[in-house]
Amino acid sequence: MKRDSIKTDGFFRMGLAIGFSTLMSLTPVLAEDLIRPIPPQNTVLSPKEALGKQLFMDPRLSKDGTVACVSCHNLAYGGADSEAVSTGVGGKKGTVNSPTVFNAANNLAQFWDGRAKDLKAQASGPIMNPVEMANTPETVINVLSKDPHYQKRFGEIYPKTGLTVDTITDAIAAFEKKLMTPNARFDRYLKGDSKMLSPKEKEGYALFKNYGCISCHNGMNIGGNMYQRFGVFMQYKDRHNTLGRFSVTGKEEDKYFFKVPSLRNIDKTAPYFHDGSAKTLEEAVQKMGYYQLGRKLSREDIDKITAFLRTLSGELPDHVK
Ligand code: HEC
Ligand code: HEC
Repeated sequence: MKRDSIKTDGFFRMGLAIGFSTLMSLTPVLAEDLIRPIPPQNTVLSPKEALGKQLFMDPRLSKDGTVACVSCHNLAYGGADSEAVSTGVGGKKGTVNSPTVFNAANNLAQFWDGRAKDLKAQASGPIMNPVEMANTPETVINVLSKDPHYQKRFGEIYPKTGLTVDTITDAIAAFEKKLMTPNARFDRYLKGDSKMLSPKEKEGYALFKNYGCISCHNGMNIGGNMYQRFGVFMQYKDRHNTLGRFSVTGKEEDKYFFKVPSLRNIDKTAPYFHDGSAKTLEEAVQKMGYYQLGRKLSREDIDKITAFLRTLSGELPDHVK
């Protein structure tokens, strides 16, 4: 496979945007090394992972028994929901779009602003979140302990502690680590099978590199490994409904920074952006060109880039099929 290095124009613009020191550390790297395939995963669930799956599907985790994790993270499709912002118990609307749980374990942190350091720390968030599952630690434990099946499983898997918020989130996190989607056509292309992409998709990938999309969307998840400002060349500021990373660090320079989302399975997770404002993938790409790169991308380029992005959908693990 031809391993072309990243072209200069997009990178020059990105240098202006994200600082030349970051740029210099990326420039010598070959583009193919910036994106890594997802390794194959054993999809047989251990007892702990199977328990985590049951909890993920169980609406009893919510205050009124109506909302499960899977309600907003549909595992049969993209691992997210199809609303701009999610609906929790009693029809209450949240403020941000639900990201996918597929491959989330590969992200540097969880949530749009990265406020949870890992999946275990993340999992108690929605259970206690007033608009999502609106529960309390006491009620969750009380309700789940009444189920003899859970009593038995937690006793076997966590003999020292049994059923606690800590073990609930531990089991859920273990399950979520089994939500990788390997073997996307693009991954197979990266591994050397150049026939996996059509000429148009290859052109889309070339544009993705040359425009500099790859400087923010890279790594195994093609995203998920850094925070960047939404609105680099053009102000998106007034339209934000949250301050992003600033809410976590309190640092002025982190205002409107968000975890760069993974682009894996992106054709299955519309609508897009933390506010769910982009209804289609084409619209998201057009806005990225405008706000992040200061460019008006042509319809033809948008078409090629989205064709490339559609090659990033991998295989769902057997246990969710
Ligand atoms: C009412 C809808 C809803 C429910 C129920 C829900 N989530 Fe989420 N989930 C969201 C939204 C919205 C976000 C983004 C919130 C944010 O970033 O502030 C999110 C974020 C996440 C993330 C972070 C992904 C990333 O890349 O940052 C994970 C993992 C996750 N949820 C897992 C779960 C688990 C596990 C449960 C059940 C315990 C659950 N969710 C229940 C809507 C929901
Ligand atoms: C300066 C860094 C940066 C560059 C360059 C960049 N992006 Fe993004 N991208 C982001 C951030 C940050 C977000 C999340 C924005 C938000 O919703 O807050 C994002 C979101 C997206 C989304 C929506 C993902 C979702 O799940 O909602 C898509 C699609 C996307 N980018 C594609 C692209 C493409 C294609 C390019 C090149 C034309 C590009 N990006 C260039 C940082 C960048």
